[in-house]
Amino acid sequence: SNVGDGKISEETKKLISSLPSQIDYHGNKICKYQGCWYFYNTLQGVLNFQRGFQPQDTDIIIASYPKSGTTWLKALTVALLERSKNHSSDDADDHPLLYDNPHGIIPFFEIDVYHESSSPNLAKFSAPRLFSTHMPLHTMREALKHSPCKIVYVCRNVKDTLISCWFYSSAIYKIEPTRSVLESRFKEFCNGTNYFGPFWEHLLSYWRGSLEDPEHVLFMRYEEMKAEPRDQIKRLADFLGCPFTKKEEESGSVDKILDLCSLRNLSSLEVNKTGKSNNVEHKFYFRKGEVGDSENYLTPEMENKIDMIIQEKFQGSGLKF
Ligand code: A3P
Repeated sequence: SNVGDGKISEETKKLISSLPSQIDYHGNKICKYQGCWYFYNTLQGVLNFQRGFQPQDTDIIIASYPKSGTTWLKALTVALLERSKNHSSDDADDHPLLYDNPHGIIPFFEIDVYHESSSPNLAKFSAPRLFSTHMPLHTMREALKHSPCKIVYVCRNVKDTLISCWFYSSAIYKIEPTRSVLESRFKEFCNGTNYFGPFWEHLLSYWRGSLEDPEHVLFMRYEEMKAEPRDQIKRLADFLGCPFTKKEEESGSVDKILDLCSLRNLSSLEVNKTGKSNNVEHKFYFRKGEVGDSENYLTPEMENKIDMIIQEKFQGSGLKF
């Protein structure tokens, strides 16, 4: 896994000693900072980001809770922006998505860019710079203060996210995705004591942000992207300031981008079949990509418990599940 190989400063160690901390199911030490649980080295990345990030007005940040459709949203964003660079690029063979995993093209602040230092070399990023994060919105507030940069958040229903986490973490830790692993992951999820948890707080942070400032925070939903991909990608394009022209729509550009970014297509590319980065095999980012897969695994008791938590946490927020 990518846990534990970052540098943790003495200052951060001191901070950690004052934070709630515990050990997760896989044996990783985690601590709670500004309401969110992090591996120690991820916290170092968060602090480096908070200390060093200088936003540019045209920056775009893809945000999500892990396993909510991040890879898909990154691919769509790359493909949408690529249009302005090369007008025929959605079928060109030099398209960046053909040569790199979407996470390689849009790195995470806390896991990649700021993992080692608060002043990384950002020379390879050209405007608009594309970054991503799993931090909750409030943890980026100070660093992004007064910046008009755009944030796109993708949220997924909690049950499918949990099941996706279960399969993904089993794959990267090379263990069988057994029922007992699921039960432990379920408990952590419900308690909120998991990597980037609690899920509810994470969602609410961006949901409220999108209500307060819809011009700069777009709240997308995985289920809507699956159900009405054309409408949702147009919504994303409008938000990012690169709407589809009439000509593009007539020439099938929307569908071309959707095909390029489909799970079937991305997962069949050599870079995603055999590639690896941060010690994670790219193929693990692609599984079923279905809505409602959790029904195949969760017991009625588990579903009830989650429904009750959702009801309690999202009550009055306007967020429907
Ligand atoms: P499942 O495990 O339910 O299949 P993330 O990208 O945030 O890590 O989320 C991973 C989930 O998104 C996985 O869900 C994965 O299969 C799905 N996914 C990955 N690429 C996708 C794509 N291009 N289209 C739709 N879903 C995709």
